[in-house]
Amino acid sequence: MSYRSVRDLDPKGRVVFLRVDFNVPLDGTSITDDRRIRASLPTIRLLAERGARVLCASHLGRPKGRRVAELSLAPVARRLGELLGREVPFAEDCIGAPAADLAARLGDGKVGLLENLRFHEGETKGDEAFARALAAPADLFVNDAFGAAHRAHASVVGVPKVLGGGWVGLLMEKEIGALTRLVDAPERPYVAILGGAKVSDKIRLIERLTERVDRILVGGAMAYTFLAAAGHPVGASRIEEDRLDLARELAARAAERGVALELPLDHVTAARVEGHAVEDLQTTDGVAIPDGRCGVDIGPRTLEHWRSLLGTDVRTVLWNGPVGLFEAAGAETGTRALAEHLAGLPAFVVLGGGDTAAAARRFGLDDRFDHVSTGGGAALELLSGIDLPGLAALRLGEGGR
Ligand code: 3PG
Repeated sequence: MSYRSVRDLDPKGRVVFLRVDFNVPLDGTSITDDRRIRASLPTIRLLAERGARVLCASHLGRPKGRRVAELSLAPVARRLGELLGREVPFAEDCIGAPAADLAARLGDGKVGLLENLRFHEGETKGDEAFARALAAPADLFVNDAFGAAHRAHASVVGVPKVLGGGWVGLLMEKEIGALTRLVDAPERPYVAILGGAKVSDKIRLIERLTERVDRILVGGAMAYTFLAAAGHPVGASRIEEDRLDLARELAARAAERGVALELPLDHVTAARVEGHAVEDLQTTDGVAIPDGRCGVDIGPRTLEHWRSLLGTDVRTVLWNGPVGLFEAAGAETGTRALAEHLAGLPAFVVLGGGDTAAAARRFGLDDRFDHVSTGGGAALELLSGIDLPGLAALRLGEGGR
């Protein structure tokens, strides 16, 4: 599937509505991780260098159609200004007079930021009138918000509809390139490592992966549901009781297709888990988790076995979901060791999902992989074979008015 790239756009003197994903974590008005802002800098710089008037628009958090002071994008405008080394003017509203004034004030090559799109309920509802209001000051649409590409929201789908399609930004292009390589033409052997809390979040991904991969290593909390479904004692580990049949079906489907589904052989367990705090850690001798104890990480035998399965012959690796409670001291070993091992592999290694990226960052390894996706849900959906609404919307027409 091909998209028009911003590289091929001549935006000189035109107002570009640039959808970005500046949904960054905040502590008060301090941005605790500005990677999503940095990730779109190449697109912003490219447009500015080519003389566009760049109107950046993003959501932040989930304010549900209300103006929530703590979710204002004003601190992001300041940070973007610092990163670009120039002032980034900010509009107090993403539609109406404030947005129109900002667009009118921007000279060629200048960059401004609109207030949080989700302060209006029309955004998440995909409301057409709201999309027209957003598009009103703009001539062209560029989408660099990969993290929001799975949302059929007004700024993602409605604005390109009004503006006759659009272009992909450089971040979007990079994300699509890396992730579709895993979907369309992965080199084999191909190993997927899946973790995280729920099997139910990853049903389509697992189904899709069984058509392409040679092996799936399952860790994290979802492994306990698979283990329980296979009849192993899982102690007090949190499992999805209502998904045991599904786990059995997925395991059977993998087996039919000759895909090895590898579950942990041993575990690190805790007597108590309270948020990210774990108490009284012990390692099991084998696969069974004793009564009253919770699995919190893969054990050393599992790690050794998985390292041996991830040898230098492996050509492609997808890692989606930590294999343990990596935020908890003592329960991060499996996720950390796996990250270190993958960082040293010659394979094409892609990390998808917010928690996996957060784990890689925590261990200082996030620049050691071929690609670390900025999208959580969007990456999951693309890898599951779903046509993302934000990408489909770009193919609507000639683009621009
Ligand atoms: C994300 O953080 O994954 C994206 O910014 C999308 O946010 P959302 O899940 O609130 O739509």
